Amino acid sequence: MAQTLSNNNFAGFATLTGAALLGLLALKYNDRAVFTERREGIPNVPGMPLFGLMFEQIAKKDRFLDFFLEKVEHMDVMTMYVSVLGLPPRIMTIDPAAVEHVLKDNFSNYVKGKRSVEMTNDLFGHGIFAANGEQWRYQRKAASLIFNVVNFRDFFTGKVFVKELNVMSDRILNKKAEQGEFIDFQDVIYKFTLETFVYLGFGKQLGALYNNEKVPFATSFDACQHNCFQRIISPLGSLREALRPILRPSELSATAHIKVIDEFAYGLIAERKEQLAQGHKYKDLLSRFMSARNPEGQELSDKELRDTVLNFIIAGRDTTAQTLSWTIYYLLLHPRVEDKLLAEVNESIPDEIEKDAPALYETIKKMAYAHAVFYEVLRLEPVVPSNNKIALEDDILPDGTHVHKGDQVNWSAYAMGRSKKLWGPDADMFKPERWISPDGELHRESAAKWPAFHAGPRVCLGQALATLEGLVALTILLKRYKFALVPGQEIVYSMSLTHPLKNGLKVFVEKRQ
Ligand code: HEM
Ligand SMILES: *[C@@H]1O[C@H](CO)[C@@H](O)[C@H](O)[C@H]1NC(C)=O
Ligand SMILES: *[C@@H]1O[C@H](CO)[C@@H](O)[C@H](O)[C@H]1NC(C)=O
Ligand SMILES: *[C@@H]1O[C@H](CO)[C@@H](O)[C@H](O)[C@H]1NC(C)=O
Repeated sequence: MAQTLSNNNFAGFATLTGAALLGLLALKYNDRAVFTERREGIPNVPGMPLFGLMFEQIAKKDRFLDFFLEKVEHMDVMTMYVSVLGLPPRIMTIDPAAVEHVLKDNFSNYVKGKRSVEMTNDLFGHGIFAANGEQWRYQRKAASLIFNVVNFRDFFTGKVFVKELNVMSDRILNKKAEQGEFIDFQDVIYKFTLETFVYLGFGKQLGALYNNEKVPFATSFDACQHNCFQRIISPLGSLREALRPILRPSELSATAHIKVIDEFAYGLIAERKEQLAQGHKYKDLLSRFMSARNPEGQELSDKELRDTVLNFIIAGRDTTAQTLSWTIYYLLLHPRVEDKLLAEVNESIPDEIEKDAPALYETIKKMAYAHAVFYEVLRLEPVVPSNNKIALEDDILPDGTHVHKGDQVNWSAYAMGRSKKLWGPDADMFKPERWISPDGELHRESAAKWPAFHAGPRVCLGQALATLEGLVALTILLKRYKFALVPGQEIVYSMSLTHPLKNGLKVFVEKRQ
């Protein structure tokens, strides 16, 4: 009896003390995750006591980019501290000066996080995207060689881009136009960019636009990219993979997909080595890297060649396809802009030019309004919407914010592009004219204010190529076809490392000429 009483007392006492302690903790951590110390001089984005922004982050996970934008627009600073229970706290910024500092002025103090590097390793391997330091430097140097004007003008424009656009017209768009059926534009343009980047990278034509059936490389490539991301965002990802043989027995395993990709890549590497040995010459990335040397002065191994080329395809393919999909969507919502762009296309690109690649290249380079449209889409829908780097040592941002060693600094190109603090009261309007100066010249914003292509030494290596491919495709497609949105579809982004349209983009196709 006495025993029970004292047990009860103890339980009551423990509960009381527990509640009191929790109360005290909740008082102390009244707007942030428990045990997150407040950082002097950095305003905290207010969240719930003890949990920080955890519940909001879960509730708004599909619209997270807009959620963060709303938060920053309501605060009178541009750099803030965010805490979420269960995640390391991080510094979030939309301040162009901070972005310039982290990506450029103090480049050597900020590196890509281990986490994102490790998580994506199966497919990305050790290519340029994940690399830091010397590993990054030599890949950057070797790759820069392929990105030169002569390659762009004479090879990429005509033999790759226009050629595949013609295939797209013959095989897909003209048929759909005749039959009055709609297409998923995003799906078709993904095939186009995959085809073109695999060709630029490996010198091999997949035939992605020729068939209705997906080519095996494309299926496996897509599956791996999806799988990598699932593992980053959800611990359930690995569980799902473990249950796959039971739930979806017809699907290949992640390992089997990797094998398809490896066989494709290693097969081409072996083939190319032989051809080069016989004295053939190639302009693709693979051949470039075969004659490059790594920091130790050696030739690249087959694994390094595979990683390098695949990273380029990953870097270029989805980003360019998504930008083109968003562009078509914005044009269809804004007929005024579409008409103005069409007038520029009509004036600049007579039919004969399509067959004269160097002339087409030179013409497109001069089309100010087309560039403005492309940049304006990348302001509102930057296809790498948020990103982060880790500080190696303590540092101070230009606004005085103290960064501690190991801190994650996050910037959101999405929130930056839409912030009224940076672009003024009409920030949420689609207005390509903001990129044109009063004298009619294209006026490009600084990479710090508009980091759609990143900034500093690691600025997107493919930005000129992406812009060229994007504008060749856009101008030629607009010239040939009038697209119209299929009514009743919901257009939203899906949260991912990049920025796809979640449900695609369904459009009817009508021939103009
Ligand atoms: C509209 C299309 C594109 C956009 C918006 C874009 C944007 C970006 C961004 C934001 C980064 C920085 C990523 C990071 O380091 O976390 C990046 C890096 C990179 N991009 Fe692009 N990109 C595009 C197309 C391309 C294309 C077509 C290629 C080449 C085929 C390419 C090649 C690269 C490479 C190699 C890097 C890594 C550079 C380095 O780390 O030194 N990108 N891009
Ligand atoms: C462009 O030219 C086509 C015919 O070549 C014509 O149908 C169309 O109206 C023109 N568009 C504009 C905006 O000038
Ligand atoms: C920080 O950046 C990563 C992308 O690198 C993103 O997934 C994450 O959501 C960002 N954090 C916030 C609070 O936006
Ligand atoms: C860059 O970061 C280092 C820490 O690695 C710091 O000591 C230095 O002052 C910073 N440089 C600039 C230009 O802010």
